[in-house]
Amino acid sequence: MTSTRVLTGITTTGTPHLGNYVGAIRPAIAASQDESVQSYYFLADLHALIKASDPKRVQQSRLEIAATWLALGLDTDNAIFYRQSDIRETTELAWMLSCVCAKGLMNRAHAYKAAVTDNEDNGSPDPDRGITMGLFSYPVLMAADILLFNANRVPVGRDQVQHIEMARDMAGRFNHVYKGNYFTLPEAVVDERVQTLNGLDGRKMSKSYDNTIPLFSSEKKLLKLIRKIKTNSLEPGEPKDPETCTLFQIYSAFASESEEQAMRTRYAEGIGWGDAKNAVFEHLNAQLEAPRGEYERLMQDPGHIESVLQKGAERARSEANTLLERLRPAVGLGRFV
Ligand code: TRP
Repeated sequence: MTSTRVLTGITTTGTPHLGNYVGAIRPAIAASQDESVQSYYFLADLHALIKASDPKRVQQSRLEIAATWLALGLDTDNAIFYRQSDIRETTELAWMLSCVCAKGLMNRAHAYKAAVTDNEDNGSPDPDRGITMGLFSYPVLMAADILLFNANRVPVGRDQVQHIEMARDMAGRFNHVYKGNYFTLPEAVVDERVQTLNGLDGRKMSKSYDNTIPLFSSEKKLLKLIRKIKTNSLEPGEPKDPETCTLFQIYSAFASESEEQAMRTRYAEGIGWGDAKNAVFEHLNAQLEAPRGEYERLMQDPGHIESVLQKGAERARSEANTLLERLRPAVGLGRFV
């Protein structure tokens, strides 16, 4: 009970791409092997409903993301790996937190404010047009995810730091209103070294720009996509600048220091873009081949994934339940006898 608890959620929208892998999945999987902390990884599938109303896509994305993490070697004995929606206590806690969370705090959430700004820019007479309560209270659900397990540290990207601060706010407020030390105040952990990757068109790799390379594309597709990465018009034999090159950036994210250095030399020597692309493909493919095979095997065996997640859910639920057993009487919802 005394070890540090590290918790993070993965919103299950879309198919994991190279940028997700390098920026989030790879470091998280490495961290899952650290036995000195208790880590919690979950599929934030309730959060997925905010952005996606197509049940088939939500379902498919959950399966793909679970298979991806398992194929890449997430240590599910050490880490607790579960689906958010399997822990019903999450939504119960989210309601309790809603009742101590100031509406004004939610008004200041970046995602909500961005949606309002979009409406204003588009000249909508209603600033809240198209904004659901799900989007508005997104940070409350996220606070419930975190506080349910009294997580100490929450590894997230920059864009999520505000949500962790809001979770601290709700935790403090609940402790104050109900006069007890129910919740630990979580801390956001932002790893400054984490790499971000650019996509096919040179902008940040992101589903919203439609410029991604799916992590487990088939070999053929991977080659095709790598060939599509935007380069400049320099001819073979002309020296090329690795620093401003998306292709080089992607290569580096998968290369050791000496491999990176060797590629730099080839750029300086004027490697042709066709050759450079083939080299990057060979290099990535060699690393992705084994987990890709495992991923494909897992995707054919959803029963196995289901059982891994059920096991995770059981571990998570027993902790969640213990906390809720304390919270219910604290707010006046305990049993009569
Ligand atoms: N909102 C997070 C994201 O989009 C995902 C998430 C949901 C999460 N609940 C969480 C992250 C709890 C950390 C802790 O990236």
